[in-house]
Amino acid sequence: MSHSANEDEHYPDDPEKARHQPTYTKGTQSEPTGEPSLASMTQEPHREQPTADDDSVSSLGGDAHTPNVLDPDAPAVLTVENLRMYFPVKSSGVIRRRIGDVQAVDGVSFEVPQGGSLGLVGESGCGKSTTGRLITRLYDPTSGSIHFGDQDLATLSSREMKPLRREVQMIFQDPYSSLNPRHTVGKIVGTPLAVHKVVPKNKIIPRVQELLEVVGLNPEHYNRYPNEFSGGQRQRIGIARALALQPKVMVADEPVSALDVSIQAQVINLLQDIQREFDVAFLFIAHDLAVVRHFCPEVAVMYLGKIVEIGDRDSIYSGSRHPYTQALLSAVPDVKQATVGGRRERIRLEGDVPSPINPPSGCRFRTRCPIAQEICAKHEPPLLQIGKRHKVACHFPGRLGQHPTEPLTSRLLGVDDQGNPDPGGSPSAELNDKPGYDDTWFDLDSRTFGRA
Ligand SMILES: Nc1ncnc2c1ncn2[C@@H]1O[C@H](COP(=O)(O)OP(=O)(O)O)[C@@H](O)[C@H]1O
Ligand code: SF4
Ligand SMILES: [Mg+2]
Repeated sequence: MSHSANEDEHYPDDPEKARHQPTYTKGTQSEPTGEPSLASMTQEPHREQPTADDDSVSSLGGDAHTPNVLDPDAPAVLTVENLRMYFPVKSSGVIRRRIGDVQAVDGVSFEVPQGGSLGLVGESGCGKSTTGRLITRLYDPTSGSIHFGDQDLATLSSREMKPLRREVQMIFQDPYSSLNPRHTVGKIVGTPLAVHKVVPKNKIIPRVQELLEVVGLNPEHYNRYPNEFSGGQRQRIGIARALALQPKVMVADEPVSALDVSIQAQVINLLQDIQREFDVAFLFIAHDLAVVRHFCPEVAVMYLGKIVEIGDRDSIYSGSRHPYTQALLSAVPDVKQATVGGRRERIRLEGDVPSPINPPSGCRFRTRCPIAQEICAKHEPPLLQIGKRHKVACHFPGRLGQHPTEPLTSRLLGVDDQGNPDPGGSPSAELNDKPGYDDTWFDLDSRTFGRA
């Protein structure tokens, strides 16, 4: 980055560290606009210098910020049911025929509670970004529904979507490519305000300045260009842009993975402040479980287009029953031994994630699963509720090292333990994967449905 001596005053070697950090007080930054004030956040200034803890992402969200807690009574602001996105694969040549599909998202259901946050975690290529882009309708889903209030976003036309775009906003992974380098910060953050006519034209600049202050940037810098900011600051600009329309839901697609580890915690803390102050719900996408641990009281783990385990923080971090989640957890440095069944060593997953054009039959994880058996290739495991707020999709759900030797799902599926048709069996009516949780669930010990 090249900058003048004058700019050096504001941006010495590391602009992120030198950033002016105001404390916000209600209504001091701009004239009243008639709109609710964005500068109503009263918060401690964000930490400037990384602490010793910052060299580990496992400390994200630590510091003065306590972990977000689950409100079990919060209604769902967003309900996603059986969502699918198949991208067509065409043959090469003059006549391009459809020869297959990338099954990027294949039947995903979940709820995001009002003002809460759901983490969506999985390795690269498992369909996280596609899910986020479907919710914000950057893609048109192949099938499924996305309920927001009494509207199904999945079925709305672009024109019908326009007023709802205010409500569901996205923060992108890459703060370098997601901001137009030819536009000033004022234009980047102000455009949604102008398009949606949120404030009168002459109030746009004061509102942009207010937003910049909320995200911890100097409000005087609204006429600067993205390349004059550091990565962390650019992500703050992206957050200000998403916040401009005061959405009810924000989809944050790996919002810190492109940032230096020392900056990640600051940006997470900012998102946490925003969530609490503006009561905005988050779908927080990350590729590792450490990042979402503090921010998300509920986490969904995805593998190859499907949710394989979903649950509240305890169920996932201390009570996981799925071998894939357990492998991801073993890579988190500070997860207690108990989490992965008393084993300390990292579980290395062999091979790569298979292609979503031709995913493995049955359980998609079976080609890399250390405990796969015959039934795994024949039947897809149902996403079975096994606790008050815990679902798992595995024929052999159990703690690491304590997975059952017989499948727990065969009777429910009406097959024998090898997955062959059982003449006397029939699939259980209890197996339908709806978003959210039921009052009754399958108890792994007694192997029956009931209430705790
Ligand atoms: N526009 C697209 N066209 C075709 N395939 C796509 C498109 N976007 C994503 N994919 C494929 O869908 C799968 C899921 O991608 P993505 O949602 O980006 O995963 P993640 O965010 O978890 O890394 C990948 O195999 C990716 O290559
Ligand atoms: S269903 Fe089978 S292959 Fe899939 S995770 Fe469970 S044990 Fe592994
Ligand atoms: Mg992605």
